[in-house]
Amino acid sequence: MTRWPYPRLFAHRGGGTLAPENTMAGMQEAQARGYQAVEFDVKLSRDNVPMLMHDDTLERTTSGSGLFKHLSSAELKQLDAGSWKGPMWAGERIPALDAVMAFLCGQHMTANIEVKPCVGRDEETGRIVAQAAAKLGSTWPPPLLSSFSVVALRAAAHAAPTLPRALLVEQCSTEQLALAVELGCVSLHCAWHDVTPEIVHAAHSCGLRLMAYTVNDADVACRLFRLGLDGIFTDALDRMRDAPT
Ligand code: G3P
Ligand code: MG
Repeated sequence: MTRWPYPRLFAHRGGGTLAPENTMAGMQEAQARGYQAVEFDVKLSRDNVPMLMHDDTLERTTSGSGLFKHLSSAELKQLDAGSWKGPMWAGERIPALDAVMAFLCGQHMTANIEVKPCVGRDEETGRIVAQAAAKLGSTWPPPLLSSFSVVALRAAAHAAPTLPRALLVEQCSTEQLALAVELGCVSLHCAWHDVTPEIVHAAHSCGLRLMAYTVNDADVACRLFRLGLDGIFTDALDRMRDAPT
């Protein structure tokens, strides 16, 4: 099994539930709480700028409406991405990947960049995000690129072969482990309730690390780490610091 330079705890969507997701405020929350790594979601604006956003649509987390992919980066940067979470975050913006990576580099943190293509944009999202991450990726350890999209992962592998990649799955199985190996991934990321001693052993036996989303209970985290799980994504940044790592 290859050396695994990543910490066990990744703050999910930046600051988990303690800040508006996928914003600079979230990154700052993770940094302030001592996290060394953050996970966030990246998709392409209409003019192909990698920017942080989870949903394909704008309504839930911004002041905009309609499809993310229909707006340019300049238009997206005008939106309020904080007020939905609370008045103290009013005026928070949708950040571009380059700004977030610059912040993380400056704080000696690293990232799991989840490539989250808008519908129909898998190939170019994988390619452009990987190229950008390789150029910006002076964090140590290097940014880990993950995706549910096999097309995006193949494009990322082609565009930036030296960046580590992870396959995200909704349901863990030996077939998914084999697919992750075939894609040249270093890890498989699955839902935490799929983690069993057998699947940890199977992942490690084929040279993969196993990480789980989204673990918000410190006791569950402890149990999973005892099974040999390599890392978790958490929304509960405040509670998870107590989990032994
Ligand atoms: O990368 C782990 C996790 O973020 C995947 O699910 O929907 O929160 O992006 P989601
Ligand atoms: Mg994600």
